[in-house]
Amino acid sequence: MEKKNIDWANLGFGYIKTDYRFVSNFKNGAWDEGVVTEDDKIVISECAGVLQYAQTIFEGLKAYTTADGRIVTFRPDLNGERMENSAVRLEMPVFPKERFVEAVLKTVKANEAFVPPYGSGATLYVRPYMFGSDPVIGVKPANEYQFRVFTTPVGPYFKGGVKPLTLRVSDFDRAAPNGTGHIKAGLNYAMSLHAIVDAHNQGYDENMYLDAGTRTKVEETGGANFLFVTRDGKVVTPKSGSILPSITRRSLVHVAQEYLGLEAEEREVTLEEVKDFAECGLCGTAAVISPVGKIVDHGKEICFDSGMNEMGPVTKKLYDTLTGIQMGTIQGPEGWVVEVK
Ligand code: PLP
Ligand code: COI
Repeated sequence: MEKKNIDWANLGFGYIKTDYRFVSNFKNGAWDEGVVTEDDKIVISECAGVLQYAQTIFEGLKAYTTADGRIVTFRPDLNGERMENSAVRLEMPVFPKERFVEAVLKTVKANEAFVPPYGSGATLYVRPYMFGSDPVIGVKPANEYQFRVFTTPVGPYFKGGVKPLTLRVSDFDRAAPNGTGHIKAGLNYAMSLHAIVDAHNQGYDENMYLDAGTRTKVEETGGANFLFVTRDGKVVTPKSGSILPSITRRSLVHVAQEYLGLEAEEREVTLEEVKDFAECGLCGTAAVISPVGKIVDHGKEICFDSGMNEMGPVTKKLYDTLTGIQMGTIQGPEGWVVEVK
């Protein structure tokens, strides 16, 4: 199969239309079997649930070319499981996780020519999503839904690749206690748009959101979880009921403990103690692990020992091990790497 003529090494994190996508419709209480199609356009009612009341959820994962030329995805079952949970929270029908994985693999396979080559620094980002498609005008869930999967080749999420980021502590909240912060709903991202534009306008790469209830504990950024390293080499990640349970973060905790022999702990992290950490990173599918050099809290700078030039040493080991597993140079735990055949 011949690859598309794309400048893989210089891709940013943007949308490039690929040849195929998967579509399945939910009607009269059941999902149809779905098709792989070339049609990238969606025609829905002007009154569709997604347009009026933002009834939409999504997922994000990547496909990689391994060192020995296979195409693989990383823990797609966990994305399928998270999407099931998101659907339940927004009163949408569940698209079963087994079918989710099958749809992802089929869509990647169909777009094989767009999967960036090993070593190019790029990957194929996979975006499954679902939305209410029939008219609703009273506030209630839709009756009909569409589940789709598209793909797009991407480079690094943050410009500059692995250059350490500068964040600010946000005065805007991302998620309410008992709200929807723990699911992957479009509405969480809609409400982060003003905060991100404002952060960018003021020269910051991202926002650090605090818990909305007390504004004393670290939550996450708009698109990634935090991972900290203590001065004695322990990995710490914030625990909260209102952050997205990142698959990358959960995988990194396992990598820290089982591959690198590090202690790793998921616990509440206060803003007050952030200055005591040696390293900080943002972890997620898009972010992989992006190092953070500095966090500005209303004029007060918190600078990490790892500095503004490169990743800290523990972050680097975590990064190398995780990406090694994803690219097939390091043997991953059973079931983590799923081949597209
Ligand atoms: N937190 C938020 C708000 C996200 O959007 C994402 C991206 O999916 C993550 C965390 C990271 O999650 P994952 O590692 O599963 O991609
Ligand atoms: C991902 O990492 O997959 C996400 O969905 C984050 C998004 C901000 C691009």
